[in-house]
Amino acid sequence: MMQASSIDNTQKLQLSPLDTPSRLLLGPGPSNAHPTVLKAMNTAPVGHLDPAFLRLMDEIQSLLRYTWQTNNPMTIAVSGTGSAAMEATIANAVEPGDVVLIGVAGYFGNRLVDMAGRYGADVRTMTKPWGQVFSLDEIKHQLNTHRPAILALVNAETSTGARQPLEGVGELCREAGCLLLVDTVTSLGGVPLFLDEWGVDLAYSCSQKGLGCPPGASPLTISPRAMSKIQQRRTKVANWYLDATLLQKYWGRERTYHHTAPINLYYALRESLRLMAEEGLENCWKRHQLNAEYLWDKLEGLGLSLHVEKDFRLPTLTTVRIPQGVDGKAISQKLLNEYNIEIGGGLGELKGQVWRVGLMGFNSQKENVDRLIEVLQKVLP
Ligand SMILES: Cc1ncc(COP(=O)(O)O)c(C=O)c1O
Repeated sequence: MMQASSIDNTQKLQLSPLDTPSRLLLGPGPSNAHPTVLKAMNTAPVGHLDPAFLRLMDEIQSLLRYTWQTNNPMTIAVSGTGSAAMEATIANAVEPGDVVLIGVAGYFGNRLVDMAGRYGADVRTMTKPWGQVFSLDEIKHQLNTHRPAILALVNAETSTGARQPLEGVGELCREAGCLLLVDTVTSLGGVPLFLDEWGVDLAYSCSQKGLGCPPGASPLTISPRAMSKIQQRRTKVANWYLDATLLQKYWGRERTYHHTAPINLYYALRESLRLMAEEGLENCWKRHQLNAEYLWDKLEGLGLSLHVEKDFRLPTLTTVRIPQGVDGKAISQKLLNEYNIEIGGGLGELKGQVWRVGLMGFNSQKENVDRLIEVLQKVLP
């Protein structure tokens, strides 16, 4: 028999049983998973075509429809993080040459631009300073100027903490004959979303923020209107793994093998969605809003100022301006190393200018705000 080569000594020394620090994750995500969700992940896996697992997939679909307030039959979890679900919307809906209009007011708008370009879109952008949102009039004007096949907006821009309102946008898109694609990665579960009422055609999210679940199984929903564009494509979807017509055969009646589902992550997602349904969606939104308002008051009480105007602030993610003369990175490192609390720094244009504080899913609790404020009082100069 062939001998396996040995692990070198330095590596051997590091091979003690897994030991990770216990952190309170109050950054832009991931957030801490609910203990019940973690317990579900620890359940022995069954096969990905086991009738019990197929039932669980059905349950995930119903729970996701509830959480997003949609009746879209094509509502599934993508095996991958939020970016995979994001890429699924672009890969499926965009055909080479399609004009895609993208609202860019932060880091994730730019990611959409990058992705759409890679799939051959004729990308047009409308931009706003980071932290601001687009008005209906501005959107209407841009739709008339560009006549796109798709309008893409980030509902919850995690890099800025701004909530892009969606009411009325779907109607404008229907008048302009285009599809509406929306990023709900930092809003699902924490911010009211009514996809059908608002005429959203494609949306995606993640598991590790408002749903209080570890990352890796990401919600995706596609309206019948968008599915019909996908079914009439002139070219094959350029991404095999994320092709909605193939995924539909696994999630729908046919139950055809496509790829091996991450079984334990689906267990976790199912449990996180069940807990949300048990709490009630409206109660969950309310809890996020109340705890965020409590946080905003406390932060302002410390003399700190918030980056986004109150009406457009996300309850899930707050951007706090770093005061002049304060080393923002040193403060967040102190929080992590001495108090086991993670908060985020600024991204892109806001790098070095803000801290990002997340109150998402299981972590949206008054006690967590109190703990953070108590520590900030100690560490801020
Ligand atoms: C608004 C937004 N879109 C997309 C993503 C990408 O998700 P993931 O990091 O899970 O791939 C994120 C991640 O933070 C996000 O905040």
